[in-house]
Amino acid sequence: MKKQIAVLPGDGVGPEVTAQAVKVLKKIAQEYHHEFTFTEGLIGAVAIEKAGDPLPDETLELCKNADAILFGAIGHPKYDNNPSLKVRPEQGLLKLRKELGLYANIRPIMTFPNVKSSPLKDEVIKNVDFVVVRELTGGIYFGDKGRKENSAFDVCTYTKEEIERVAKLAFKLAQERSRLRKASASQGKLTLIDKANVLETSRLWRETIQEQSKQFSNVTIEYMFVDNAALQIIKRPSSFDVILTDNMFGDILTDEASVIAGSIGLLPSASKGEKTSLFEPIHGSFPKASGTNTANPIGSILSAAMLLDMSLQLAKESKAIRKAVFAVLEKGYGTKDITTNSPLQTHTIGDKITALI
Ligand code: IPM
Ligand code: MG
Repeated sequence: MKKQIAVLPGDGVGPEVTAQAVKVLKKIAQEYHHEFTFTEGLIGAVAIEKAGDPLPDETLELCKNADAILFGAIGHPKYDNNPSLKVRPEQGLLKLRKELGLYANIRPIMTFPNVKSSPLKDEVIKNVDFVVVRELTGGIYFGDKGRKENSAFDVCTYTKEEIERVAKLAFKLAQERSRLRKASASQGKLTLIDKANVLETSRLWRETIQEQSKQFSNVTIEYMFVDNAALQIIKRPSSFDVILTDNMFGDILTDEASVIAGSIGLLPSASKGEKTSLFEPIHGSFPKASGTNTANPIGSILSAAMLLDMSLQLAKESKAIRKAVFAVLEKGYGTKDITTNSPLQTHTIGDKITALI
């Protein structure tokens, strides 16, 4: 199979972790006789510096013409504490999501063998396996924003269509997951997380999901306010199956949920929509670790596994990556976010995973 993969390493530890995922994909191509072409593009702070634009047109074109996009991380402290800047690295990623119509961000939350870095009790995180479907191109992230004298505003808007398309994907995912589980397991469950006791947009989410649920009678629906959800995700995480939520709540809850896995560096994500899909670890640019070769590449490597499965329909190859990742963790190897026992460097973990494919 011949495929074009756009690689956007971005900022901070992005280039270090992405290099490991590319290494793994090259090994997959070699072992399974595929031809993957990797083309790098600029995005984020590094793109502002080199091209004066957090998302140069060239990068956008590259992404539109690719079969899949592997993304690293975005953000630089230089921009974080200077609120008056008009051009910011994050705008690059937000514009890319919007331009590609990537309305659904899929973030699986799970535990990993031998990883004991979660501060939560074993009995709490046992059997955790849920997926967060975060709406990614609407809400407060993309509404009107501005200043008026001594005030500022960020408007949160959702249309029914925006809710329906992401909800449809979440309902289908819940169905698919229940099909894949053992016959004895319960039917699929969808938890809509919102703030419908306060926000009008949340009430539209509930209304829309209630209507849509009629077409998915084999999926149980649960509604939860976001403040309570923040508590339940930590208290009884194994009770969730598929979570559906808006852009802002999804951003916050998935960072929180990564505590279950033991490190945010372990978790991958897929963004799907109208055009090319994008795959990225859920962690940020982690500027303090940048250039030290200590960041965990597993989130990026598992994002590459999602890319193979979801964009290239290479399920067997994707499974081979996951198996290699689990085997390396089972042997007790890890970067310093997950182990204190002789932590290994980013590229060493990448090499070990590659060697097992
Ligand atoms: C994420 C990130 C981004 C977001 C930032 C970098 C704009 O936190 O992908 O979760 O808020 O969506
Ligand atoms: Mg985030």
